Amino acid sequence: MKKVLIESLHKHVGEEVELSGWLTNKRSGKGLEFLIIRDGSGFAQCIADEEKIGNDNFLVAKNLSQESSFTVTGTVVKDERQIGGYEIQVKNVKLISQANNYPISNKAHGVEFLMDNRHLWLRSKRQWAVMRVRNRIIFAIHNFFQKEGFVQMDSPIFTGNAVEGTTTLFESTFYDDKAYLSQSGQLYGEAMAMAMGKIYTFGPTFRAEKSKTRRHLSEFWMIEPEMAFFDNDDNMDLIEDFLKYVVKDVKEHCKNELEILERNTEIFDKIAENKFPRLTYDQAIDILTGKEKVNGKTTIETLENDYNETIANIDERNKKITEIEAEINAGVKKGKRNFLQNRIDVLKNEVKDLEDKKRVIPQWIESAKNFKYGSDLGGSDETVLTRMFDLPVMVYNWPHEIKAFYMKRDETDRYAKGVDVLAPEGYGEIVGGGERETNLDYLIGKINEHKLPMEAFEWYLDLRKFGSVPHAGFGLGLERMVAWMCSLKHIRETIPFPRMYGRLFP
Ligand code: 4AD
Ligand code: MG
Repeated sequence: MKKVLIESLHKHVGEEVELSGWLTNKRSGKGLEFLIIRDGSGFAQCIADEEKIGNDNFLVAKNLSQESSFTVTGTVVKDERQIGGYEIQVKNVKLISQANNYPISNKAHGVEFLMDNRHLWLRSKRQWAVMRVRNRIIFAIHNFFQKEGFVQMDSPIFTGNAVEGTTTLFESTFYDDKAYLSQSGQLYGEAMAMAMGKIYTFGPTFRAEKSKTRRHLSEFWMIEPEMAFFDNDDNMDLIEDFLKYVVKDVKEHCKNELEILERNTEIFDKIAENKFPRLTYDQAIDILTGKEKVNGKTTIETLENDYNETIANIDERNKKITEIEAEINAGVKKGKRNFLQNRIDVLKNEVKDLEDKKRVIPQWIESAKNFKYGSDLGGSDETVLTRMFDLPVMVYNWPHEIKAFYMKRDETDRYAKGVDVLAPEGYGEIVGGGERETNLDYLIGKINEHKLPMEAFEWYLDLRKFGSVPHAGFGLGLERMVAWMCSLKHIRETIPFPRMYGRLFP
């Protein structure tokens, strides 16, 4: 008997095959058991017919509980209505290991409960889809940089110096010395770029973020390319090509996963076809505060429109819910009632999201109106800016006071040549980067100004003494990219075992 995976069932239509996996769900009919099996590569329905497989076999199928592991043999049949498009007509079922009282049922659970059971939750369909998208994003990232001639490098995790400010450092010890867990591989990336020309790091980074937000992890993975002889314009061109490549690749290779996640992929097409808006910080602030219009509208007008539309959408759904409830009350068959009840649940969830939106839009308007020039963009400001374009937006030339010590100053001495990329649909910053300061005296001044220990940066300053060249780079937060592409509300679902404030287990 041929052992196969669910993802390759399409190659075996009409053949008898053997599948091994776990029972994820089950329905029973008269003399029939519909077993949904998952094997890691996909999901498929197996139909066990008592008349065809005999009592003993049928009993095994009937007694399978959720997450029991088993092997099934049977014939592959094409069925468009099924999840993967194929199902198995069972000949034989063999139990491998019975699972008793699996804690996660197919009904809704609270998120803390699911997080406590993360080691099991990963088996569910949505989590499966997210992890597969994550995997594909990683693959696409490597493909992009490798085809562009970059050399992948690994930067150290134990480090002696801060990169991105001293407030988020995780302290550790390194024999008799104090050490920190790396916040960014950038400084080492700069050294390697002087050896290899173009490099990228792809590794874990650590930041002590003592607050619970939907965008911050304490341990996250960052991709940091660094390029010799690049200015910030070259940098922005590369970022745009890179993001377009990854988005296109994932859309092409994760159709099934994106469907499971109910991801609307129109935005991916829009990204493929349009240039990303590039705004200076000053221009971004003019747009944010309503001084400058986009397509004839100010942010305030756009948000007021959104607000009214949200109210109309809530009303429309509530009306629909009332109608369906009336239909149920008038009396319908059980199957139809379940179907209608499901519709109501979906609509109610949509109303809940819309109510949230209705609550936050006035706050966004206030925050946009009152934005203080010279400060960093807040989460809601980022949402409002990208809302104006419905595309990723690049903001560059920032007031140098709010950017890292290593950023290159522009000709006017007021701005740092940094760039942030803001993802649309409320996701905000996914990339931060820029051109690096090459002027030795400026750099020394900045290190002092940021009160960083000069001795820890001696080696870094060497890069400016021996064949210094213009260079630039950026960092993409992998988990933020996954959250946005999968349209997740919270970053905790983007990594198998998240580490964040208040969570070290499982
Ligand atoms: O903007 P950041 O701090 O930039 C750097 O670390 C530079 N050294 C990168 C470079 O130029 N080589 O971080 C880069 C990205 C952010 O845009 C965000 O996507 C992600 O890293 N990031 C986080 N992701 C999850 N949780 C956190 N706590 C994050 N902090 C930053
Ligand atoms: Mg940043």
